[in-house]
Amino acid sequence: MALYSEKVMDHFLHPRNVGVIEDADGVGEVGNAKCGDIMKIYLKIDNDIITDVKFETFGCGSAIASSSMATEMIKGKPVSEALELTNKAVAEALDGLPAHKMHCSVLAEEAIKNALEDYQSKQKK
Ligand code: FES
Repeated sequence: MALYSEKVMDHFLHPRNVGVIEDADGVGEVGNAKCGDIMKIYLKIDNDIITDVKFETFGCGSAIASSSMATEMIKGKPVSEALELTNKAVAEALDGLPAHKMHCSVLAEEAIKNALEDYQSKQKK
């Protein structure tokens, strides 16, 4: 069996939503101390709906594929739904990740949660 699914390879080679949102409503950044990979997520939120999302990932192919898939999964969704996105759902949407690469999808879940928390804390101010 190939190490990576076709979907992982597709999202790694042609990542969706790469970039920066200058006037983002929420920004989240996480890193994995072990591998040194870093992921940053930018959200544009209007009326509680994620209208745009971009990411920058300095990391491995699985981290790039996970960010790409995760951003696709929350685009157009309400904040409450995005908060429930799990790394498992991201990995499943990619048709699986090798066990030692599951932590790459955790980065995507955490970066999105951080960005949503950043948005929520700005709302309170
Ligand atoms: Fe660490 Fe992929 S090897 S995020």
